[in-house]
Amino acid sequence: MDPSATEDVPGSIAEPGSALAPDDGTVDERTIDPDPMIQFGLWYRRASEVVVAPESMALATADAQGRPSVRMVLLKSWGDDGFVFFTNYDGRKSHDLIANPQAALLFYWEPLGRQVRVEGAVTRTTDAESDAYYASRDIATRVGAYASHQSQPIASRVDLDASVEHWTTELRDGAVPRPPWWGGWRITPRAYEFWQQGQYRLHDRVRYEADGPAWTIDRLQP
Ligand SMILES: Cc1cc2nc3c(=O)[nH]c(=O)nc-3n(C[C@H](O)[C@H](O)[C@H](O)COP(=O)(O)O)c2cc1C
Repeated sequence: MDPSATEDVPGSIAEPGSALAPDDGTVDERTIDPDPMIQFGLWYRRASEVVVAPESMALATADAQGRPSVRMVLLKSWGDDGFVFFTNYDGRKSHDLIANPQAALLFYWEPLGRQVRVEGAVTRTTDAESDAYYASRDIATRVGAYASHQSQPIASRVDLDASVEHWTTELRDGAVPRPPWWGGWRITPRAYEFWQQGQYRLHDRVRYEADGPAWTIDRLQP
């Protein structure tokens, strides 16, 4: 599902009139949906009503020595097979993910006082999936993927603009195919936490952990 494709959240998750409990601004281990992706859909749908870019998420990675780093990326699809974002396979985050294929995601939806944490293993999206998403981007963005060596130093903005100009000319007559160093990563969740701000710092926290095909659900102290 592509959260940015339409105003509404497409797909079968949390359709109005489903059996889900109404979103009354609370989270409780007794009434939360047993499937965390359905719960995510419920919260994502609500966030889409009040947050400009609910798909913005922090992505934490760690290098081969376990040294962490974090940056924002955009969630481009999510569903039963996980959470997908797209990037350069040659940048710092991808180097981390190649060396250490584990990641954590964080969504913070301030007007709702909510955060969602996701942890899991990562895999590359298929070439077909990356091709399809790349082809959906506007031409300037596609050219940008050629012009920028993500995470590498460059002498100046002028040099970056010159690289864009070079690639714009170079790719002028072609279809601008997806460069092999650009594509998606998928996080397959192993754990989630749904956090709802409460009064007096007595926040509600519900954690899911994968237990084979099932999920164990625990309330955590704030
Ligand atoms: C709101 C927001 C969304 C972003 N989305 C993406 C994205 O989807 N993919 C991406 O490669 N970089 C994205 N960026 C830029 C990254 O935060 C980061 O600067 C870049 O990916 C290089 O990170 P790295 O050097 O750790 O690989 C985004 C930045 C912001 C502020």
